[in-house]
Amino acid sequence: MADTNKTATLTIGNSSYDLPILSPTEGPDVIDVRKLYGQADVFTYDPGFTSTASCDSAITFIDGEEGVLLHRGYPIDQLASKSHYLEVCYLLLYGELPTAAQLEDFESRVTNHTMVHEQMHRFFTGFRRDAHPMAIMTGVVGAMSAFYHDSLDIQDPWHREVASIRLIAKMPTIAAMAFKYSVGQPFVYPRNDLDYASNFLRMCFAVPAEEYEVNPILARAMDRIFTLHADHEQNASTSTVRLASSSGANPFACIAAGIACLWGPAHGGANQAALESLKEIGTPDRIPEFIARAKDKDDPFRLMGFGHRVYKNFDPRATVMKQSADEVLELLGVENNPLLQVAKQVEKTALEDPYFIERKLFPNVDFYSGIILEAMGFPTSMFTPIFAVSRTVGWISQWKEMIEDPQMKIGRPRQLYTGVSAREYVDVENR
Ligand code: CMC
Repeated sequence: MADTNKTATLTIGNSSYDLPILSPTEGPDVIDVRKLYGQADVFTYDPGFTSTASCDSAITFIDGEEGVLLHRGYPIDQLASKSHYLEVCYLLLYGELPTAAQLEDFESRVTNHTMVHEQMHRFFTGFRRDAHPMAIMTGVVGAMSAFYHDSLDIQDPWHREVASIRLIAKMPTIAAMAFKYSVGQPFVYPRNDLDYASNFLRMCFAVPAEEYEVNPILARAMDRIFTLHADHEQNASTSTVRLASSSGANPFACIAAGIACLWGPAHGGANQAALESLKEIGTPDRIPEFIARAKDKDDPFRLMGFGHRVYKNFDPRATVMKQSADEVLELLGVENNPLLQVAKQVEKTALEDPYFIERKLFPNVDFYSGIILEAMGFPTSMFTPIFAVSRTVGWISQWKEMIEDPQMKIGRPRQLYTGVSAREYVDVENR
């Protein structure tokens, strides 16, 4: 972040205030209002952060108008086609692509942390069978702070490193266990001879009664889903992790907070909601009825998997995901699956509809990831946990960046108070 020597002048009544303008390496300039309250006794007001940069960060850049997503400068389409998830994890965490030796070392460290403490199995069995896997994940990841005491000191770089590796390594195991528990099957232990995505598929779909062969095309599609969701700068869950961590809370508690935020249907829960909408639509002849409902301001129904706060032309992740969806559907021979036919028709209808065109609403990454996960055999309740597995590295990278920033302060937004002004307490008998 560079000072531009430019200032913005704010005039309030007869007083003027010069506000420094800071320049990022990419993206719009930023007006620095940090000293404004002290100087002018006013706050800025921006619910939903539509015009506010909450921090500086060197990890991910998005240009929503141009549909650009860069991780440490590398475009997402190149990472999705040439790299793989654990290499992208290394890039996000440490800032550069690894050498072959660094990658081997990183992969081996992650691989050797994939098992969870055996006693944690009991947490799972404490939940009702019909508990949503996100509820289980929020609880179990938070509970990791009760098990891994040797990686809780956020001021110690080694503790931060160990906590990071543990979270990336154990999250697939925890998500798969949540799934297995919900379907009444035994937990499947991780296998360290498999890559990250293959291991996850095996932990989800293998059963002790028979051998499970990982299909390399499905493993590649799974890896791509992980890669495309790895980070997305200051979205709601990442900002939640940052805010929770700014108080000094331990990393497991903070990631649990991120998981809770991700669950919402406007964020990570959209992939589940999108598929459920498609199921509700059911057959192509009902699509016009649902499109009309999505456009009706008196109806809360929204076409889930459409639209994005930042991307206003296309979601570059969705472009890659759509390609991956086509490959997976063809491989599995399910191109004619009725649900997927509805999905394709919804996409076509919405993209031609003036309501969606004018508002720049197009399918986002979650529309297509839901289709792939459905075809792979995951129930919709597992879609958001898979997003959480993928996003863990983004949360951790942003958390580490924040803790390592000497300017770190506790996050403490201000407000525009609209309540009652000071008044005298009235004794109960006089009310
Ligand atoms: N269906 C119907 N209308 C929509 C939709 C939709 N999915 N999304 C936005 N609109 C309309 C909205 O009603 C508004 O119309 P008007 O200007 O007439 O009032 C206009 O488009 C702008 O919407 P907004 O709510 O002001 O936009 P936002 O930037 O606050 O919301 C969003 C972005 C993603 C929350 C929203 O588009 C949405 O709810 N989409 C469905 C949920 C979804 O797919 N979320 C996943 C996002 S990608 C994964 C992730 O990063 O988590």
